[in-house]
Amino acid sequence: MGSLKSEEDLEESKDAILYVNGVRKVLPDGFAHLTLLEYLRDVGLTGTKLGCGEGGCGACTVMVSYFDQIYKKCVHQAINACLAPLYSVEGMHVITVEGVGNRKFGLHPVQESLASRHGSQCGFCTPGFIMSMYALLRSNKTPPTEEQIEESLAGNLCRCTGYRPILDAFRVFAKSNDLLYTSGSVSLQEPKNGEFICPSTGKPCSCGPNKETVEPNDCQNGYKPVSYNEIDGSSYTNKEIIFPPQLLMRKSSHLSLSGFGGIKWHRPLLLKQVLELKSRYPDAKLVVGNTELGIETRLKKIHYPVFISVTHVPELNILTADDDGIEIGAGVRLSELQKFLKKVIEERPVYETASCKAIIEQIKWFAGTQIRNVASVGGNICTASPISDLNPLWMASGAKFKIVDSKGSIRTILAGNFFLGYRKVDLENNEILLSVFLPWTREFEYVKEFKQAHRRDDDIALVNGGMRVFLEKNNKNWVVSDACIVYGGVAPISLSAVKTKDYLIGKKWNKELLQNSLEILKQDVVISEDAPGGMVEFRKSLTLSFFFKFFLWVSHQMDGQDSFSESVPVSYLSAVESFHRPSVMGSQDYEITKQGTAVGSPEVHMSARLQVTGEAEYTDDTPMPPGGLHAALILSKKPHARLLSIDDSGARSSPGFAGIFFAKDIPGDNISGPVIEDEEVFASEIVTCVGQVVGVVVADTHENAKLAARKVVIEYEDLPAILSIEDAVKFKSYHPNSHRCLSKGSVDQCFQSDQCHKIIEGEVRIGGQEHFYLEPQGTFVWTMDGGHEVHMISSTQAPQKHQKYVAHVLGLPMSKVVCKVKRIGGGFGGKETRSAFFAAVASVPAYMLNRPVKLILDRDIDMQVSGQRHSFLGKYKVGFTNEGKVLALDLEIYNNAGNSLDLSQAILERAMYHSDNVYEIPNVRINGRVCFTNYPSNTAFRGFGGPQGMLITENWIQRIAMEVEKSPEEIREINFMSEGSISHYGQKIQDCTLHRLWDELKKSCNFVKVRSEVEDFNLHNRWKKRGIAIIPTKFGISFTTKFMNQAGALVQVYTDGTVLVTHGGVEMGQGLHTKVAQIAASAFEIPLSSVFISETSTDKVPNASPTAASASSDMYGAAVLDACKQIKTRMEPIASMKKHTSFVELVNACYFERIDLSAHGFYIVPDIGFDWKTGKGHPFRYFTYGAAFAEVEIDTLTGDFHTRAADVILDLGFSINPAIDVGQIEGAFVQGMGWVALEELKWGDEAHKWIPPGCLFTSGPGSYKIPSVNDVPHRFKVSLLKDAPNDKAIHSSKAVGEPPFFLASSVFFAIKDAIIAARAGSGSHGWFPLDNPATPERIRMACADEFTAPFVQSDFRPKLSV
Ligand SMILES: Cc1cc2nc3c(=O)[nH]c(=O)nc-3n(C[C@H](O)[C@H](O)[C@H](O)COP(=O)(O)OP(=O)(O)OC[C@H]3O[C@@H](n4cnc5c(N)ncnc54)[C@H](O)[C@@H]3O)c2cc1C
Ligand code: FES
Ligand code: FES
Repeated sequence: MGSLKSEEDLEESKDAILYVNGVRKVLPDGFAHLTLLEYLRDVGLTGTKLGCGEGGCGACTVMVSYFDQIYKKCVHQAINACLAPLYSVEGMHVITVEGVGNRKFGLHPVQESLASRHGSQCGFCTPGFIMSMYALLRSNKTPPTEEQIEESLAGNLCRCTGYRPILDAFRVFAKSNDLLYTSGSVSLQEPKNGEFICPSTGKPCSCGPNKETVEPNDCQNGYKPVSYNEIDGSSYTNKEIIFPPQLLMRKSSHLSLSGFGGIKWHRPLLLKQVLELKSRYPDAKLVVGNTELGIETRLKKIHYPVFISVTHVPELNILTADDDGIEIGAGVRLSELQKFLKKVIEERPVYETASCKAIIEQIKWFAGTQIRNVASVGGNICTASPISDLNPLWMASGAKFKIVDSKGSIRTILAGNFFLGYRKVDLENNEILLSVFLPWTREFEYVKEFKQAHRRDDDIALVNGGMRVFLEKNNKNWVVSDACIVYGGVAPISLSAVKTKDYLIGKKWNKELLQNSLEILKQDVVISEDAPGGMVEFRKSLTLSFFFKFFLWVSHQMDGQDSFSESVPVSYLSAVESFHRPSVMGSQDYEITKQGTAVGSPEVHMSARLQVTGEAEYTDDTPMPPGGLHAALILSKKPHARLLSIDDSGARSSPGFAGIFFAKDIPGDNISGPVIEDEEVFASEIVTCVGQVVGVVVADTHENAKLAARKVVIEYEDLPAILSIEDAVKFKSYHPNSHRCLSKGSVDQCFQSDQCHKIIEGEVRIGGQEHFYLEPQGTFVWTMDGGHEVHMISSTQAPQKHQKYVAHVLGLPMSKVVCKVKRIGGGFGGKETRSAFFAAVASVPAYMLNRPVKLILDRDIDMQVSGQRHSFLGKYKVGFTNEGKVLALDLEIYNNAGNSLDLSQAILERAMYHSDNVYEIPNVRINGRVCFTNYPSNTAFRGFGGPQGMLITENWIQRIAMEVEKSPEEIREINFMSEGSISHYGQKIQDCTLHRLWDELKKSCNFVKVRSEVEDFNLHNRWKKRGIAIIPTKFGISFTTKFMNQAGALVQVYTDGTVLVTHGGVEMGQGLHTKVAQIAASAFEIPLSSVFISETSTDKVPNASPTAASASSDMYGAAVLDACKQIKTRMEPIASMKKHTSFVELVNACYFERIDLSAHGFYIVPDIGFDWKTGKGHPFRYFTYGAAFAEVEIDTLTGDFHTRAADVILDLGFSINPAIDVGQIEGAFVQGMGWVALEELKWGDEAHKWIPPGCLFTSGPGSYKIPSVNDVPHRFKVSLLKDAPNDKAIHSSKAVGEPPFFLASSVFFAIKDAIIAARAGSGSHGWFPLDNPATPERIRMACADEFTAPFVQSDFRPKLSV
């Protein structure tokens, strides 16, 4: 690292500089508006991705290193480049994923481990994960613990993998004994061909057969798992980029730089200079982490002209402890504070550090590591957010704030008096917060933190709290001598419950105190019905629950003290235990059926090694050619309105403006649509949703384009809007001709007969789901040959649709439009049709101006405008016998299509097909309708309506169980379909593996034993409950629109023996290209490495159906096989001469004989078809069956939950690539968990009046929570059914993408099972509705008890946008 110099010897810096991956860069003046991410991507380091721009996804994670002059050490930490102002890293060393390792010079062990353990699917999140892990390793002298690893990843989101393989890949760095880890992860087993699976690699090897004696490290195939010691040792460190010695010798200087829009960035080094600047610029904003300011400036578009960065000011960064307490500089970062407090706790008497412990616990759930590494104590305090996690604790613990004004005068104020109103604090313009003083606690003084959020990790609180009580002994009674109860999230400021505090003082700590306090708290906390944030009843209940927990906790702490008699019942103790997450244990069980050289082998995703190094390119990574423009959308702000006028003069005079286009400017046709053409590319007269595209602006930069778009002024005349399914039903607002009916037997007769012992009726409400692909929608369009040809690179699952829409809107023949896709960063259905509209929009300026145009949607815009999984409403009437045998189902089913039909009809139809799930129902009538609402058009999403149909079914199955007092599993079993059953749409059930799967799962999860353990747990725990469920599924494979079941491919064999395959499918992380390449390799009997798939392109394979419906491997695999067979047939005359010793020789021999070595392959799915007139047919080629078990634990007082175990089994025939299939199952399951328990879309509707009508409130990772690493089931087992070939698909395999998604509903029903136990504890029996998703709000409110009773009845149903 070079020699360390003393302070005086350091060289004063002249230029503003930065080291990036070891290379010195001078930072010119004028860049104060840029983030580090923008800068990195501008200089070509596109491995660092933009996923959200608000610190919520981790895709932009980089490692920053600096030399801490105070502690004389190098600090390495992960940060979010999207929020870091460029100049905030001046004088530091930034390592991006490109600096860690690459394909040419070698992968870093972290990269190799992630790639080889299947931890990268679409790869868009991957560089971020690599950087978080890399920073953890570099900042730790010793191997991190598994807990540290999981904690360090909490700020990184992945939508594909389900996290388990990522954790497994990184866990090896936590331990020196790899054997412990590897043997638990992949089971050793005997595959068909006699080979054995190496437990380390998951690949066939010769290290078996005796399980007992195998040591993975001794594996004879030469594989050796990567260990932490290797990364630490010379083998890699000689390649590791070191901290630049020049930076050690560099003395920071006062910076004064500028940026676009007149922004000034000052970085003073002394407090004196800060104060001078503050007096010169009273409105200047102090900045430390920019995690609050960054959101204000970039998302809320607030303009601040002057920033004063105080990271280098010693007085603002002090951290000292003395006899009275701790002094914490306002600029101290939360991760530093956490470390310091941990040290203090070890050194001071236990009773003194109660506040410290509470703060540490609270910081644990404060954002992710990247945010905590930069976010400051002062930034959090001065923002005065009503949901700040720390402010209630500062207030409760009696902290004091030291404030200094521009003259240097210091005043001190109690934290409790500092907060004046919504984001308003007692600070004059010439004052800043200098430090926080945290007093030690006294003996018998207790401080406790509380927080409940949607998601435990990296989420802002719904309600939080800080509570302190000081007990003194008075005449043999323990009496409250001081107290402070503070809540966040219940008022515009952190709210001190003053009446409760006044009551508490002088009272004995006993049950009477508890009861009275709960009463008084209701007067302290008053939340109005229409309060922003909603969830009023939940928030009120939480305030009582928290106080109750505090009472129990203090009582428990006091237990055993002389004369303290308020003992806590044993069954209450779990209510006060902090949540501790065990490390995730994954196991995967599959057999390998090798077919040829590659099919059947658990090969690594073909792009994995490019993805872990950041070399894999996505749409936005395409370099912008000279003259290129950025586009921004002009969007409707009204759900339904007439456009009265559009004033674009402001946009035209905006900086960098290059053009603006509306409906009238479209050269071709403005109307389009995937099934029927019912949608305008640019709204012309009427807008029918918020976020509808009215026009597009292009400018020289993305920011300038957005600025110009914001300057367009539109006048509207409001029209009545339909904002829910209920409204649509009431006003009969349906898409034309969308009514569908399926029937079997006679439902009415059955209901009237005496066969039905019971008839139930009910309603199932299912919320929508955002796709949250990590790569936002994006397209890049340019013209060629004087503007007469149009080419594009798009992030889409349907390049052919892009080609078609662009040709249509420009009035060009399709033959002159080409769309290419290399890979996409996740799609899940969201890029099947909606993406084509964005391509059409971008093509207009590109064509009209004859210049390249890039349109990349910001995350919030993407979420608002691009449609989601449909919300559904199901109204059922079911007749059944006393035994629970279902006899008749009458179902009305509605989906919320939004403002255009898009794919909603087919989605409704699939929901209707799947409304029997796996059950034999003799009499069925299903009526379905597609609702027109004033929302952006909803669209395809993994499962395509199937999960919603099946969820309705499982709801009434579960209700029948309660009605007949049997377990839901018994009801399921007695109603199972079997071989030969005929579905309600007339398809015969063949090769049904349902019973086998079910029995194997029940055995593998030990269902009977677990049920009795759960009952035992519930008996002994009043406020925590466990629940279990086991759910089956049957998913129909094929596009239900017959003509779409066709696929084309092009196979080209080159004279060096390598093969280039192109097919109509898109690689979006699901491993399609890998599987298809395996098929080609096996066909030619060549190694997989000889086959390459470069991209998908409409000029290679025409008229391709979208990559969807789980059917792509089946279809494109078969098309490729067809092409390979054609080539092999042509080669056969030469091959039969047996003169060649290798494939290369054979190819060359054929070439010299002038044999065509290129072939077009084609495949149609046979034997399918359906007639909606008769309602009968054979819509599916076959079914994929599966089942899942889940066990959850809920905190009935807060609604917090975690999944203790999930055990999933699927029948995937002979898997083409079991590792990829396991990845699909895990990813789908975790995504499904998001749908059933975490992810809630909140729209401005009748239920959410605090949101403007038709607007999406949950439009980013800050408010919309997809599962994070903490949500993975603690024990997560995935098995593939063995020995179950499927003769209806290629190589006897089965489709996998969508079928496992629904199995996550086992978590939903396990939650419901736990709630049933909780309600029983309060005397509430009988069935109750639980809407999907079962978020903490729904869980808590369904656990009706004395803390919810003051606010709602036990049948209360929290609001949901449906
Ligand atoms: C993804 C994400 C997750 C988050 N999660 C949480 C969470 O779980 N809990 C939570 O409470 N918050 C959370 N936040 C909010 C935010 O991170 C915190 O409030 C953070 O502590 C702010 O610190 P900062 O240094 O980044 O502030 P900055 O953005 O740098 O500054 C914030 C404000 O404080 C002012 N300021 C800073 N220092 C001083 C000073 N010394 N004197 C006067 N004014 C000052 C600034 O001028 C500015 O107005 C989250 C934010 C993000 C982006
Ligand atoms: S892009 Fe920075 S956290 Fe999402
Ligand atoms: S691999 Fe993580 S988001 Fe796709």
